[in-house]
Amino acid sequence: METELGSLGMIRVLIVDDEKQLVEAFKKQLTADGMEVITASCAKEALATIKKKTFDVGVLDIKLPDLNGVELLLKLKQLEPHLEVIMLTGFASVDTAIRSMKLGAYDYLTKPCKISELHKVITKAYEKKTLEEKTIVLKEHLHRLGPPDDFIGESKPIKEVKKLIAIVAASNVPALILGETGTGKELAARAIHNLSPRAGNPFVAINASALQETILESELFGYKKGAFTGAQDNKLGLLEIAHNGTLFVDEVGDMGQGIQAKLLRVLETGAFIKLGDTKETRVDVRFIFATNKELPQEVAAGRFRKDFFFRVNAFTIQLPPLRMKQEDIPLLADHFLEKFSRGGKKKRLAPGTLEVLAAYEWPGNVRELANVLERSMLLSGPRKEIRLEDFPEELLAGACQIKKGKKSKSSETVLNLTRLEEEYIEKVLSAVGGNKTKAARLLGITRATLYSKIR
Ligand SMILES: Nc1ncnc2c1ncn2[C@@H]1O[C@H](COP(=O)(O)OP(=O)(O)OP(=O)(O)O)[C@@H](O)[C@H]1O
Ligand SMILES: [Mg+2]
Repeated sequence: METELGSLGMIRVLIVDDEKQLVEAFKKQLTADGMEVITASCAKEALATIKKKTFDVGVLDIKLPDLNGVELLLKLKQLEPHLEVIMLTGFASVDTAIRSMKLGAYDYLTKPCKISELHKVITKAYEKKTLEEKTIVLKEHLHRLGPPDDFIGESKPIKEVKKLIAIVAASNVPALILGETGTGKELAARAIHNLSPRAGNPFVAINASALQETILESELFGYKKGAFTGAQDNKLGLLEIAHNGTLFVDEVGDMGQGIQAKLLRVLETGAFIKLGDTKETRVDVRFIFATNKELPQEVAAGRFRKDFFFRVNAFTIQLPPLRMKQEDIPLLADHFLEKFSRGGKKKRLAPGTLEVLAAYEWPGNVRELANVLERSMLLSGPRKEIRLEDFPEELLAGACQIKKGKKSKSSETVLNLTRLEEEYIEKVLSAVGGNKTKAARLLGITRATLYSKIR
């Protein structure tokens, strides 16, 4: 497929030198090498050219008829901050060349120089420039770039999810991942990418609810230099960065309808027009969407485009909440204890703690479980095991209520009530490390009553 990325890969070079013959020779060879070369014989011409066209690398002679090369360097950098500049100098002005590097030039070459040498330096300068551009865009997504967690779980609902992930990974169909907060939607998206044939190419994530509409649009699609005031340079969009890879659009339910329409077209044709551009840009991107909104309701309310919904909703994976896959809790807990011990000695869970973890409702799902374990690990200090007293109060309270409910419904109802109460009070007391004030609060009785019962 012929893509606009092909031309993005072509290095655009501006050579400014008044030695006509030399410049022509450079141009001929570098063009033959696949670069796009435009020449100017003086500073004035160079400045006029760069106002009309974007360049990646500038090659400037230090001695120009109308301006010193170093001054031209500064002017060019002002107009195009990301331009990398190589200075050409005679032996006499090597000092000036070195000074120019302090002022932002990438490198210098002394004349006469070989074309092959010039080619090498231009390529290096270009690599630096593209790397910087990518870093700028990716910085915003840096927190997402760590190595992904393995997808842990052997429960039936998670096995089902893993099966669907494997199926959809093999295709190019857009995937839609649904689920409460913290259920692992982003993790699932990464898993799809990693299992797909695109695994060696970029996985790029963007959160549609975190960004204002206009910023989201320029992040996704990029823009051309001069598209609006402040557009000083071409901006690569995430769609281009994700070319041949996967774009994960998180919180798609919060995306504005204008962008929905533009993205729908990308889904259907792989093409879009950037702000300030006249021609189409084509990309080959696999889409994964996620949301915890009810999209059909959003469509009914007129907030989500119906045509876009049908595209987004092509293959749905529903992630179960943690309370529906309690049997995975020991595996997950073990995984997080290992992860948070960061190579140090792994802590154990004291007897009784797993039951409390299993009994809790987990409104924040796996993320909350991870946070609870990390915090408890810290609170456990030098101890080798994590005890109930290291857990947050809401966990203990929730667990106590459930235990109370379960016991009374179980076959043990014949159990002597006094014995049951004793057992229960013991449990709560040990849960809070013997703290009677806390225990009384959890039990919903006064401290005095608790004391009398203990007696
Ligand atoms: N099955 C799992 N195995 C291992 N780690 C998991 C699992 N599910 C979730 N996690 C971890 O839990 C945390 C939250 O997961 P993730 O960010 O994917 O949730 P999310 O559904 O995208 O949440 P939100 O809707 O709040 O964005 C992450 O640290 C993730 O690695
Ligand atoms: Mg998420």
